[in-house]
Amino acid sequence: MSEWDTIRLEIEDDVATLTVDRPDRLNAVNVATLTAMKEALAEAAEQEAQVVVLTGAGEDAFVAGADIGYMQDLSTPEAQAYAELGHEVADAFETFPGPTIAAINGYAFGGGCELALACDLRVASENAVLGQTEIDLGIVPGWGGTQRLARLVGDELARRLVFFGERVDAQDAHEMGLVGDVVAHDQLDGYVADMAADLAAKPTYALEAAKEALNQVQEGDLDSGLRYERRLWSSLFGTHDQREGMEAFVEDREPEFE
Ligand code: COA
Repeated sequence: MSEWDTIRLEIEDDVATLTVDRPDRLNAVNVATLTAMKEALAEAAEQEAQVVVLTGAGEDAFVAGADIGYMQDLSTPEAQAYAELGHEVADAFETFPGPTIAAINGYAFGGGCELALACDLRVASENAVLGQTEIDLGIVPGWGGTQRLARLVGDELARRLVFFGERVDAQDAHEMGLVGDVVAHDQLDGYVADMAADLAAKPTYALEAAKEALNQVQEGDLDSGLRYERRLWSSLFGTHDQREGMEAFVEDREPEFE
């Protein structure tokens, strides 16, 4: 049923699997990909999928982040629009009526980690590496990471991950509570498929109510936190360190920050 260039959507037995499919860019997500993801989630809801699985194509990456090549010359208003789109997609996973599972099959950096954070559950393969790595590009997490990470792993660990931009392997991520399970790489798809099938077999309305109630725990200041984050994130575009951090990545050299 796929109708998009950079993602695939398959719906079978009430489970929708959304695969980000840009392996030559390690599944980094650009505007077209985010827009497609939004449309695909709407389609999954319309088709009454009860569970959504998010994963990445190929053997190496879940989602290696927001597209740095696209971001490098953004102005603050353009960055604001990109942040809003990223937030819309993350929110769509968070508010999808049924459970969403991130099957983290490889790199999940920056925006990729944030999309995983917006899912209800996270399962990582032994090959997975996760991180909010934005600091080394001269920016901060901008798709909900500063808010959702702290809520999931606690304030101290979130600060460490965001300040240092540390890249953590699946086992460490599990110990931090960043992922719920770690499984052998070649067993990830089957493991997540079983999990999704178990969830799809649960009473639909009860499961949806459970999710809605659990989401309520995170209410309160989240919206203002997310608005604050969007403002801050986009204000960094145009700074020397943002330009330099992204240019250095694109040119494959070490950045020289101010
Ligand atoms: N945006 C755009 N392109 C990206 C990307 C991103 N977030 N992550 C990887 N790519 C591209 C690379 O530029 C490279 O393109 P090229 O073949 O045209 O040179 C291709 O994907 C493969 O990546 P490469 O760096 O060569 O692979 P690697 O195995 O040596 O390293 C990573 C993989 C994930 C460790 C490394 O690509 C990386 O650190 N990516 C950036 C992660 C990041 O900071 N994400 C946060 C963004 S908000």
